[in-house]
Amino acid sequence: MTNHELMQEDLKYIFHPCSQMKDHEKLPLIPIKKAKGSYIEDYDGNRYLDCISSWWVNLFGHSNEYINSRIRDQLEDLEHVIFAGFTHKPAIDLARRLVALTPEPLKKIFFADNGSSAIEISLKMSFQYFKNRGEERPLFVSLQNSYHGETMGALAVSDTGLYKDIYKDILIKTVQAASPALVSEDEAIESMRSVLQEHHGKVSSVVIEPLVQCAGSMQMYGATYIAKLRTLCDEFGVFLIADEVAVGFGRTGTMFAIEQAGISPDFLCLSKGITGGYMPLSVVMFTNDIYNAFYCDYNEGKSFLDSHSYTGNTIACATANAVLDIFEQENVIENNKSKIAFIARETEKFKRLKNVKEVRQCGMICAIELQGYSAQERIGLHVFQEALKQGVYIRPLGHIIYFMPPYCFSEDELLKMIETTYEIVNKML
Ligand SMILES: Cc1ncc(COP(=O)(O)O)c(C=O)c1O
Repeated sequence: MTNHELMQEDLKYIFHPCSQMKDHEKLPLIPIKKAKGSYIEDYDGNRYLDCISSWWVNLFGHSNEYINSRIRDQLEDLEHVIFAGFTHKPAIDLARRLVALTPEPLKKIFFADNGSSAIEISLKMSFQYFKNRGEERPLFVSLQNSYHGETMGALAVSDTGLYKDIYKDILIKTVQAASPALVSEDEAIESMRSVLQEHHGKVSSVVIEPLVQCAGSMQMYGATYIAKLRTLCDEFGVFLIADEVAVGFGRTGTMFAIEQAGISPDFLCLSKGITGGYMPLSVVMFTNDIYNAFYCDYNEGKSFLDSHSYTGNTIACATANAVLDIFEQENVIENNKSKIAFIARETEKFKRLKNVKEVRQCGMICAIELQGYSAQERIGLHVFQEALKQGVYIRPLGHIIYFMPPYCFSEDELLKMIETTYEIVNKML
C-alpha cells in the first residue's frame, strides 16, 4: 500500500492525539512502515531522522537488536499477568534496580502505564497520606508554565493554557507559583514561599519538572532552585514530587535530573524513556515513610486502592530491564557527554541569526526559540514541513524548534539534524 492509500483509510476511522484533524486536509499523515536505529520509514520508502525520539521516548534507536531479543525471550515465558496478588521477576528486578539507581530515601515503587497516571498516583498518594493521619490537604502546588499530562489531575497541576483552559471549571484545585525558568531563582522561591504561607496546612504536595519544562516551550532552569525548593517543602511539611517523565533516563546529562540538585524528592515519577520507547510503562517511587502510611489492617480503610489493568506489564518490565542493561554495559551517560558538547558547538551559529531569540540546552535537549513571527503564521509548522522534505523529523512547539534525539545518533546524524534546520531558519530571514 502507498502512503496516500493508508492515509485515506486512517482518516475514515482515527482521531489522532494532540492534532486538529482538519489540518490533514492539507497536511498529509505519514503512515510508518518500519524503523531502524535513528530512522523511521514510510510506505513510499521515504526515511526520516527521528530528532524528537518519537515524543521523547526512544533512547537507543528503533528496533534495537538487544531490546528486541530480550522482548522475544520474555514473550516465550509470560506476556502479562494481573499484578494484584501476583508478581513476576521482571518487575522485581526492575524495582530493585531503580531503587539502587535513585537517591537513598526512595525505597518503594508503584507501577502504572503512562506518565499522566504516574502523576495521578503521586497526587492521590500525597493527599491520602495526610488524610490517613486525619489531615485534610486538598491543594496541590505546581509551577507556572508546567506540563504534567492530560488526565484530569495531571492537567490540573499543569499550566499550559492551550491544553488546560477549556477544562478549568471541572478540575481539582491547584495553585501555580512562579517558574524559575521565567523569573529569577530568588523570585521563584519567594513566590513559592508566599503560596505555601497563604495556603499553610492545606497543601499536600508541590510538583515540578526538574530542570526542563519540556512541553512549556523547553524552558530551562538551574538545579539550585530544586535544592532550595526541597528545603522550603521541608519547612512547610509538604511533599515534593519530581516529575521526571520527560527528563529521566539521561536526557539532562545525568541519569536523573534531581541528581544535579543533590536532593531526593518524596515522589519520583518516571515513564517515557523507561522502556527506551517500546512499551507504555511508568513508575512512582517514594519513601518507606509514605509506604508505611498505607500499611495497616484492611478494615482500617487506609489502603491505597489505585490500579490499572496493565499495571506492571511483564513485557514492559522486561523491556525496561533491557534498557537498564544498555545503560550499564555501554556507559551511556559518560558517552553522551561528547554528544552534548557537539550539539552545543554546532548550534552556536543559530545565535547569530536575527530571527533567533535564544538557543538553550540542557544535556541532550536543545531548543531554538524563534522571534518576529505571529502565532497565526504557524512558523513551527513551516519548519516542520521543510525539514520533513529533507528527511529530518522535528516537531516544533509553536515558534520553539527543539532537538531531543535518541542517544544512538552519530555525529553525522546530529549534524544533519542541526544543519538542515539551520538552513531552513536562515532562509526564512
Ligand atoms: C513532564 C511530563 N509529565 C507527564 C507527562 C505525561 O505523560 P504521558 O503522555 O505518558 O501521559 C508528560 C508528557 O509529555 C511530560 O512531559
